Amino acid sequence: MVPNKKMEALLNKQMNAEFYNSHLYQAMAGWFESQNLPGFAGWLEVQAEEERKHALKFYSHLKERRGAILVGPVPAVPTKYKSALDAFQAAYDHEVHVSQEINKLMDAALADKDYAMAKMLDWFITEQVEEEASTDAILQQLKMIGNSLGSLMYIDRHVGKRKAA
Ligand code: FEO
Repeated sequence: MVPNKKMEALLNKQMNAEFYNSHLYQAMAGWFESQNLPGFAGWLEVQAEEERKHALKFYSHLKERRGAILVGPVPAVPTKYKSALDAFQAAYDHEVHVSQEINKLMDAALADKDYAMAKMLDWFITEQVEEEASTDAILQQLKMIGNSLGSLMYIDRHVGKRKAA
């Protein structure tokens, strides 16, 4: 069943927001490269790729239901951070924001009785718990180490082991 115009617009909005998320983390990865912290950069590159896959889930949903697919321009993303802690605070805060947006989408889908959309969003509800947890885990470690350069390099090596899902 083709989504109604309101749901179609919401699905496109979130698809574009996920493309933004991909750019956000790719740019963050670039900043970490400039700080000589390749492990964090690698972690964020995997994250950027995941976000692209999130966008494509909305894309596929629209395609399968014959909704209009409106890929828009991606707004500018931040390219500089004060510290690794500052970057991961921004990442965690952003994921909390994304969770709120997904929850709002779910509310709209259920209010509209668009169960196909709700079923698709169900995956994102679970995913957002993981997204918040993974950014928060790194954030908490960064808070713990204070200004210890050795510990920062240790975490960098550790998070750099993340592989693409
Ligand atoms: Fe797709 Fe990390 O939100």
